[in-house]
Amino acid sequence: MGSECFECVERVIKERRSHRFYLDKPVEREKLEKMIELAMWAPSAMNRQQWFFVVVGGERLKSLLSVISKSVEHLMPRLERFFGDTPKIIALTKQFFRNLGNAPIAIFAYYTPTGDDYSDVQSVSAAIQNMLLAAHAMGLGTCWMTGPVHVEEEINQYLGVKDKKLVAVVTVGYSAKKPPVPPRREVEKKVVWMID
Ligand SMILES: Cc1cc2nc3c(=O)[nH]c(=O)nc-3n(C[C@H](O)[C@H](O)[C@H](O)COP(=O)(O)O)c2cc1C
Repeated sequence: MGSECFECVERVIKERRSHRFYLDKPVEREKLEKMIELAMWAPSAMNRQQWFFVVVGGERLKSLLSVISKSVEHLMPRLERFFGDTPKIIALTKQFFRNLGNAPIAIFAYYTPTGDDYSDVQSVSAAIQNMLLAAHAMGLGTCWMTGPVHVEEEINQYLGVKDKKLVAVVTVGYSAKKPPVPPRREVEKKVVWMID
């Protein structure tokens, strides 16, 4: 792979953002299919590929909003702890959980348990990140959400999903707003080098 390809990968990784406001514009099915295809090229523990995705849009997603919006109540204690002095963030988060930013699509990412939850969650997470990067490279916005896992049972009942564990919900759509760039921590504080 040449340096040109590396530059592209670096840009896609660094420029991907979490989008919480979407345009009223449908997402092409081919793009969604590409996201799923590339998700499935992620590494997985023992190559078990335990992931399972449910892609939801239209009226089904609209009716799921009332279920998903309940999950924010479970998050309130943590939101208040971390963002107590920035009530705007709490209000925006509540709003996002109410309407998913009008995202036309949400992808529910599951695993079929193998008895090794630790590995299964990590494998699905790798697939989700692939999906996010693929979406960004195709001009789509996404947001990785674990908040809805608090109401997993109700979601699964609605979607008719059985014997699977929900890892996250990924909203997908064309972004209506350029999100801010949340700063990253200093590299020096997050790594210890022991290579000599
Ligand atoms: C495991 C995980 C769970 C997340 N859950 C939520 C969520 O429930 N709601 C939400 O609005 N954002 C959620 N996010 C998005 C993060 O808030 C976001 O990635 C972080 O603020 C950095 O911003 P960026 O993605 O634009 O770089 C989650 C991200 C990850 C990786």
